Amino acid sequence: MFPESRPRRLRRTPALRALVRETHLDPAQLILPLFVLPGEGRREPVASLPGVDRLSADLAAEAAAEAAAHGVGGVLLFGLPDAKDAEATSSWDPDGPVPSAVRAIRAAAGGLVIATDVCLCQYTDHGHCGLVGDDGTILNDASLPILAKAAVAHARAGADLVAPSDMFDGRVAVIRDALDEEGFAETVGILSYSSKYASAFYGPFRDAAHSAPSAGDRRSHQLDPPNRAEAVREGLIDEEEGADLLMVKPALAYLDVIRDLTDATDLPVLAYQVSGEYAMLHHAADRGAFAFRDAYLESLVAIRRAGARATITYGAVDAAKWLA
Ligand code: PBG
Repeated sequence: MFPESRPRRLRRTPALRALVRETHLDPAQLILPLFVLPGEGRREPVASLPGVDRLSADLAAEAAAEAAAHGVGGVLLFGLPDAKDAEATSSWDPDGPVPSAVRAIRAAAGGLVIATDVCLCQYTDHGHCGLVGDDGTILNDASLPILAKAAVAHARAGADLVAPSDMFDGRVAVIRDALDEEGFAETVGILSYSSKYASAFYGPFRDAAHSAPSAGDRRSHQLDPPNRAEAVREGLIDEEEGADLLMVKPALAYLDVIRDLTDATDLPVLAYQVSGEYAMLHHAADRGAFAFRDAYLESLVAIRRAGARATITYGAVDAAKWLA
C-alpha cells in the first residue's frame, strides 16, 4: 500500500521501463498484405487505403523484397483477376495473379513466408465468397471443392501457407485433404481465418479488391459481431480440421476475442488489422488527432498484448523501419 508501494519507481527512466516491459514487437511477426494484378509493370494506388497500391507480380516481388530487407516476416497475397464468372474459375488458374506473384516473390525474396488468401469473392462476378444458388443462397458444400482447387494452385506455385478467408463450414478439412492428396502434406500449412466477423471495417479492402457483393452481404457466413464464444468455437473446429494457425479478424475492435482464442488453443493465433482500422488511423492522424506513428505502433502493441503471435497489417514495412 502507498506510501510503501510506489509503482512509478519502475517507470522513472527509459532503462527501467525497458527492463520491465512485457510486450515486444518484432518485424518478423508482421505480415504485409499485397494486392496482385495480372500483367507487368502495373501499379494502381488504392484511393481508400493510404499508401497501398495494387501491383502486378513483378512489382509485388519488388515490394516483397523490400519488406524482407526490412525484416518483415511474410506477405499475404490477394488476387485481382481480369476475368470473373459465377463459378470463380479464375480462382484456380495456375497462371492467375496469385500463383504468378508467388513464383516471382519466391525468386526475389525466397526466405519470406508467402501466404495466399483463398476465397472466391475476388473471382466471382457477383462478389460473393462462394457459389450462389438460384434462390440467392450462398452455397456452402458446393463451394468447397473450388476453394480446395484454388488452394492447390497456390501450393503448386510455392506458397508456404494457404489462408482460407471464406468462413464456410468444413473448408479447412477439405483443403487439408486436397493438399495432402497433391503431395503437400509436409510443406504447405493452413492459416485459417477461423474467427472472421461480418465487419464494417472491411470497406476499403472491398474497394481495393473489387470484391464488394453486388447484392446482399456476408452475414450468413461471417461471424456476428456481438458473439464471443462462437469465435472460440470456430477456432477450435478449425484446429480439429487441421489448421496450423488461427486468426481473428478484425483486430482492434476484437481484442477480447484474440485473448479468448489464444487462451483456448495450443495453435498460434494471428490477428488481421484490417483495411478500415488502418485507414481510420491515417485519417485521424491527417486531421491532427495524433501522430500516425505513435498511434499505429500502440495499436500493434495492443494486438500483441492481447495474445496475437503475429499481425497482418498494411503498415508492416513502416513498422519494421520504426522498430529498427
Ligand atoms: C475476403 C477477404 C476480405 C478481407 C480479407 N479477405 C473481405 C471480406 O471478407 O469482405 C478484408 C481485409 C481488410 O479489410 O483489410 N477475401
